[in-house]
Amino acid sequence: MFYELAVSTWGPEELAAIERVIASERFTIGPNVAAFEEAFASYHGRRYAVMVNSGSSANLLCVAALFYKKEHPLTRGDEVIVPAISWATTYHPLQQYGLKMKIVDIELDTLNIDTSQLEDAIGPRVRAVMGVSILGNPAALDVLRRFADEHGLYFIEDNCESMDAELSGRKAGTFGDLSSFSSFFSHHISTMEGGMVTTDDRELYELVKSMRAHGWARDLPSDSVICDRTDDDFFEAYRFILPGYNVRPIEMCGAIGVEQLKKLPAMTAARRKNWNLFQSLFADDNRFIIQRENGKSSAFSFTIVLKSKTGLSRARVFKSLQQAEIGYRIITGGCITRHDVVRHYDHECLGALPNANLAHDNGFFVGNHPFDLTPQIVRLREVLDGVSR
Ligand SMILES: Cc1ncc(COP(=O)(O)O)c(C=O)c1O
Repeated sequence: MFYELAVSTWGPEELAAIERVIASERFTIGPNVAAFEEAFASYHGRRYAVMVNSGSSANLLCVAALFYKKEHPLTRGDEVIVPAISWATTYHPLQQYGLKMKIVDIELDTLNIDTSQLEDAIGPRVRAVMGVSILGNPAALDVLRRFADEHGLYFIEDNCESMDAELSGRKAGTFGDLSSFSSFFSHHISTMEGGMVTTDDRELYELVKSMRAHGWARDLPSDSVICDRTDDDFFEAYRFILPGYNVRPIEMCGAIGVEQLKKLPAMTAARRKNWNLFQSLFADDNRFIIQRENGKSSAFSFTIVLKSKTGLSRARVFKSLQQAEIGYRIITGGCITRHDVVRHYDHECLGALPNANLAHDNGFFVGNHPFDLTPQIVRLREVLDGVSR
C-alpha cells in the first residue's frame, strides 16, 4: 500500500516494555497501568485518569457513572444532546442506559456539532450533552462547556479521536465532567486496544474505578466518598457496591502506554506538519470542503467532502484511490441516522441533518501519520486532479 490508512507507531521502547511485563509475570492490571494513568492525568492537567480496555468502554463508564451519582444522577428517559456524526459507541451506551438522544447536525467545515442549534435542542428532560471532536479537530468545547453550565447539564466529552488537540491553550479531553480517550491501534497513541476516562471529580472517579472492575469496592481508597470501607479484608475483597463491568486493561497495555505517551508531543508535531502541507495543497480547491481547524488540531486524518455542485462522483474518486493504493474510509462512520442501529435508539433529530448527510454521501478521509507524508499527500492531490467527472 502506497498510503496506508493506519500504521504502527511502536519502536524498540514498546517492545522492551512488553518484555518487561512478560518477565514480571504480572499480566492483569497493576503498577504499569497505574503508572500510565498517573502520567496521562498529569499530561492533561487532570486530577484523575482511569484506564480501560477501549475507548468504547470509556464512553460506557462515563455514562454509567452519571447514573450512580449521589446527587442529580441521570435517570432512564432523560435526554442527551449528541452530534449527528460520531462513532457508534458514542451512542450505544446512551441507548443501553435508556436515554433519549437529541441528534443535532454538524458544521460542514469543522465536522463537529453545530453549536448554533444547541438552544433549539434544549428541553425539560435534557440532562447532558455529548461533545465529540472529530478526527483531531476540537469541537467548540468552550461553547459546549458554557452551554452545559448555563443549563445545568453534564458534559460528557468523547475525545477518542482528538488526543493532544488544543483549544485556547487547553487540551481537548479536559472540558468534560468526564472525558474519554482511545488508544486503539490506529489512534494518536496505540496500546493495541485501550481507553481512558479523565475527570477532576472525586466521586465520578471512584464510580468509574469501581464500575471498571465488577462494581467492587476493592480499588477504592479507605476514605472513599462512595462507600464506607471497613477493616474486614475478607469481606472487602469481594464486596460489590455497583452494577459494574469488567473492562480492565492489561499490564502490557499500561506499559506500552507509558512509552507511547512520551512520544506523543513529537508525534503530534509531525502530524501537524503534514496537516499544514495538506491544508496548503487543498485549501484553494473549490471542489472540496476540508476541515477548518478550530484551535489546534492533532490532525488524526485528512477529510475531504466533495461539493455536490462539482459533479465529481465519490465512486470514481474511490476507484482512483484504490488504483493509486491510497487507503480511505467514511468520516467516523458517517451520519448515525443512516445506520440500521438507529431503529434501536430512542431518538429525535433536529431537522433533516443536511450537513451530516452530505458528509455521509460525499465525504471520506485518508490517514495522517507521525512522520513526513509529503510524497503521499502530493500524490493524493495528483490522483484527485486526475479523476474525471
Ligand atoms: C469518537 C469515537 N468514540 C469512541 C471510539 C471507540 O474507541 P475504541 O475503538 O477504542 O473502542 C472511537 C473509535 O474510533 C471514536 O472514533
